[in-house]
Amino acid sequence: MIPQETVDQIMNAAVIEEVVGDYVELKKSGSSMRGLSPFTNEKTPSFYVLPAKGIFKCFSSGKGGSVVTFLMELEKASYPEALRMLARRYNIEVQEKERTPEEIAAASAKEGLANLVGWASKWFMDQMRNTDAGKAIGRSYFVERGFRDDVLDTFLIGYSPDSWDALATAAQEAGYTPDKLVEAGLCKQREDGSLWDFFKGRVMFPIRDVTGRVIGFGGRTLTTDKKVAKYVNSPESVLYNKSKVLYGVHLAKPAIVKEERCFLVEGYTDVMAMHQAGVTNVVSSSGTALTTGQIHLVRRFTKNITVIFDGDAAGIRASLRGIDMLLAEGMAVKVVLLPDGDDPDTYAKKVGSDALQRAIHEDAQDFLQFKTKLLSDEAGNDPMKRAEMIRSVVTSIAAIPDAIQRSVYLQSSASQLKMDEIVLGTEVAKVLHDQSKAAAKRAAQSSPYGKSRGSVAPPPTGGFGFPADPVAAPLSDQAPPVGDDLKPALSERAVIENDLIRALLEYATEVVSVIIEGEEGEEPTKLEVPFAELVIHRIEEEGIDIQEPVNQAVVKRFSDELDHERILTADQLAQDQDMGVQQKVAGALVQQHVLSPNWSQRHKIYPVVERDQLISLLEDSLRRMHLTDLREASREVSSKLEAGGLSVEEERDLLAQKVQLAREVQATLKHFGTVILP
Ligand code: CTP
Ligand code: MN
Repeated sequence: MIPQETVDQIMNAAVIEEVVGDYVELKKSGSSMRGLSPFTNEKTPSFYVLPAKGIFKCFSSGKGGSVVTFLMELEKASYPEALRMLARRYNIEVQEKERTPEEIAAASAKEGLANLVGWASKWFMDQMRNTDAGKAIGRSYFVERGFRDDVLDTFLIGYSPDSWDALATAAQEAGYTPDKLVEAGLCKQREDGSLWDFFKGRVMFPIRDVTGRVIGFGGRTLTTDKKVAKYVNSPESVLYNKSKVLYGVHLAKPAIVKEERCFLVEGYTDVMAMHQAGVTNVVSSSGTALTTGQIHLVRRFTKNITVIFDGDAAGIRASLRGIDMLLAEGMAVKVVLLPDGDDPDTYAKKVGSDALQRAIHEDAQDFLQFKTKLLSDEAGNDPMKRAEMIRSVVTSIAAIPDAIQRSVYLQSSASQLKMDEIVLGTEVAKVLHDQSKAAAKRAAQSSPYGKSRGSVAPPPTGGFGFPADPVAAPLSDQAPPVGDDLKPALSERAVIENDLIRALLEYATEVVSVIIEGEEGEEPTKLEVPFAELVIHRIEEEGIDIQEPVNQAVVKRFSDELDHERILTADQLAQDQDMGVQQKVAGALVQQHVLSPNWSQRHKIYPVVERDQLISLLEDSLRRMHLTDLREASREVSSKLEAGGLSVEEERDLLAQKVQLAREVQATLKHFGTVILP
């Protein structure tokens, strides 16, 4: 447990735009800040931070909330983990007592693993620096390869002793359980239950996430035995998701942002050697094919990537596909081809820092030109090979999401291939057409609302009173629900409920007037109350059952505060402990602040907070919720009747219920909206 005082201290110190800024390039946009969502692969920014309110909202994923929620979502961290990350970032000491083995076991799986893996990396480092074998075998290996000590320290390089159980023993003495050692992939278990060290006799490359936390290891053997795998890696775990990690990203981050470019190399030692030569904006996919997750990780910091190829043609051919993925994600891609037989590590050491700098900057070529040349040289004049080559180039061009860029590339590739631009362009258009047809088909299958939900008609703006159509979209439904198309279907009931809750959050403190009927013979009185009070009162009065858990939570927060005669503000709720609540609030707040100007420009309408409309929105929502509940009940009765096999009494009861429900529907249609409007 982190003491509440410390939590408060952390929350006071944390500046949301700084923390988010570690992951997302934010640009000022009015009173908010905007960038590309780190949660999706969007191409136009719909991710917002409202510094003054301490919240973020991502329209492409629907996520939103406080700085803590952000870290929990992005780092897949628990609440205390996220707080600890913030504490680290803002140099706040978190007092926690030494843990007993029982407490370690009880801690969340991920946190426990993170502790163990962090501990292990320190232990490996210590082995290499402070034991005889570590120095003689591990460190001297790196010295021979020309690595400096400061680089070994920067990369937390370590040594795992050539013993079956050195780590297993030390870790258990430090209080870590065999289960965790196995889960972290540090040890394997024999049939008799005993452990053996998986990385035995290897030099250790800790793999760190974007915040610098160690999450796994690569271990390189020091033997030249061909039967031993040169590298072994930690298995995937709750902590270590290979497809979302790039080796060196934590160290490269500042330089990538500063240089507006990221270099991509193949191996651990390539990253280290480039660092040593003064190039620090470099990451590695660690020998595996590049994944979209990894590309997104880079794209948070820059769109410019230079892929450095070892000088062997087979490797390059295999990598071309991966590079199309880079293009598809909107990256601007260059390539550098090293001389045959060199990788960045050997090359950097051979030519030194200056020549390396020159090679990776000046000799970098545009990827498409490089690919076109490579393939067209290979194809020569063989018509079949040429056709295949053209198809491959066309696929790459079609992958580029930006139309202007695409046409630039089309021109240059056509001239490179000595082809008519229109002929090549037609091929690209064909691919694009097929792709968009396929995408439309997918969207139609997954969207319960088709495209219509994104373009709900604006509310009536002139005049007062009721919306003309009682089932017209209520006030708060107009913001473009970006990404909604891909979300699962909401029931009608949930949609109404969400609208009401969103209005509650947006207009909680807005004062509305209501008229209360007098007792027999008394005059009715007019009351001015905050909208939130009216909403809660009416929900309770009508006995409306709020069904969605998040909505329940929001209503409960308001109702609890009302019991103390206080009105909650959405700003207060934005920092709520419940992530779902935070998310809800962020949605409402950001819509209000960020999107309103947008739709006013587009639709030439101005969202007016019209008191009467708020009340009719409330009454309308209550009525519709009540009606959907009644209809649902009625449907249940009908299906029981249809199922048959009923006794006479049962059938009579059900029929009576049905009649009663129908009456209630009629009564409801009359009742709501007529009671308390002024
Ligand atoms: N790799 C791996 N498993 C292997 C071989 C390679 O995970 N069996 C990964 C490692 O991340 C390695 C990268 O692929 O760094 C590139 O492989 P390679 O070029 O063989 O290794 P180098 O990084 O050049 O390592 P070294 O210079 O130590 O030989
Ligand atoms: Mn190498």
